[in-house]
Amino acid sequence: MSKRTEIKITTAEAKRQADIITQLSYHIKGTNLKYFIATFGCQMNAHDSEKIEGCLEQIGYVKAEKESEADFIIYNTCCVRENAELKIFGKLGHLKSRKKKNPNFIVALCGCMMQQDVVLDTLKKTYNFVDMIFGTYNIYKLPELLQTRLETGEPIIDIWETHEDIVEDLPSIRKHDFKSCINIMYGCNNFCTYCIVPYVRGRERSRDVSDIVTEATHLVNDGVKEIMFLGQNVNSYGKNLEEPTTFAKLLEEVAKIDGLERIRFMTPHPKDLSDELIEVMAKTDKICKNLHLPFQAGSTDILKKMNRGYTKEHYLNLVKKIRTAMPEITLTTDIIVGFPGETDADFEDTIDVVKQAKYLSAFTFIYSKRTGTPAATMENQVEEAVVKARFNELIAVLDPISAEYMQNQVGKRFVVLLEDVSKNDKNVLSGRTETGILVHVNADVKDIGEFVEVEITSAKTHYLNGKLV
Ligand code: SAH
Ligand code: SF4
Ligand code: F3S
Repeated sequence: MSKRTEIKITTAEAKRQADIITQLSYHIKGTNLKYFIATFGCQMNAHDSEKIEGCLEQIGYVKAEKESEADFIIYNTCCVRENAELKIFGKLGHLKSRKKKNPNFIVALCGCMMQQDVVLDTLKKTYNFVDMIFGTYNIYKLPELLQTRLETGEPIIDIWETHEDIVEDLPSIRKHDFKSCINIMYGCNNFCTYCIVPYVRGRERSRDVSDIVTEATHLVNDGVKEIMFLGQNVNSYGKNLEEPTTFAKLLEEVAKIDGLERIRFMTPHPKDLSDELIEVMAKTDKICKNLHLPFQAGSTDILKKMNRGYTKEHYLNLVKKIRTAMPEITLTTDIIVGFPGETDADFEDTIDVVKQAKYLSAFTFIYSKRTGTPAATMENQVEEAVVKARFNELIAVLDPISAEYMQNQVGKRFVVLLEDVSKNDKNVLSGRTETGILVHVNADVKDIGEFVEVEITSAKTHYLNGKLV
């Protein structure tokens, strides 16, 4: 199910692109040319892809069911780990022959990976059949870039080193009618030593409170019940605005919107998570009691080398404070295994944090060397076999904690927002509790987007089964 949102066009740049969309649509509408977007990486990219879809559909392209049917293929890329990049190069290799067979076939690449010079060099050398390359700062220029490509027939590479304006007011296609993401800020200033994001997404910049509230109100009027705020470090939201404010104050403002039922956000950084935020979360019913709080590593020594800005003790104290203020809250996290110099004792600290913090679930990553980041040239990179063994041990500790938590939910009742048809069984719907637990329940497809009461009948490690009550 998808829904188009047309937000009022307010900036001159957005208006210019909208005019180009209209001109292009005279040529494309009715031709049945099909597009396909493959999105890699995080929710930022997923949200950017919604904007790309919005533009393409207004231009008149039709969404292809399968990649093999498309006339216009876009890969919105991620480079946070090496695997993500290898996947893209692998997929690109397959497109070369299609390009040879069909001269009208267009291949576009955008997103984080394109912001790296080394990637551009490889593309120019080995994948010179790619038609359009743009980055993370100029997605809104897509109509103009496409127009130039169609008019000249020449490949286009348009990568900006940094951002100019934040241009928001473009059409976008929402994946769900009833929930949506809103970018509240872009970029990151933290420079964790392993991470490429600050280099490919630029410095932190927050959107105005009034723009965010307007967008949220618009979405709610359009049927949205749940909003997820996105930012690489939402806790530093508002610091660089002309009239500085805090993330907690933004949440309080948005919670006033009638008809909005659930507010989520990611990602908060443990070093900046304020008492004000904990207080606002605790007292505001609409803010979901689930916190994604990446700790990355348990050892204070490794955290220092990672430039995370907190210690093991600070993190665990924070968890205690959060759980005291909101006993029902669930926590999820990101963990990196095998950061350069990680010893067995350091890894034991990671295991210790996992045991104490008791996560509902965790994204676990093997450290991946990213060229250009400080960690890439650090000494004592950990041997692959050691990292793999630690990774497996970590999962073996995480899973029983999730399983026990899940088992304790059997017999309880939860309000669940039904979101999708389950991947495994077409007759089953999946949804989430306020605390972010995935629940499977027998219900009618027409109930997608509705809140229902569910009694939990059985538990698996990563989801619950329940019945409607
Ligand atoms: N801004 C968010 C996370 C963004 S990237 C935060 O700070 O929490 C998502 C996750 O990818 C990170 O939390 C980290 O766990 C992981 N990650 C980032 N760079 C990585 C690397 N070089 N190797 C392995 N995992 C990495
Ligand atoms: Fe990367 Fe750290 Fe910024 Fe997160 S906070 S995006 S991990 S540099
Ligand atoms: Fe996200 Fe990957 Fe970019 S995690 S910010 S899409 S590098």
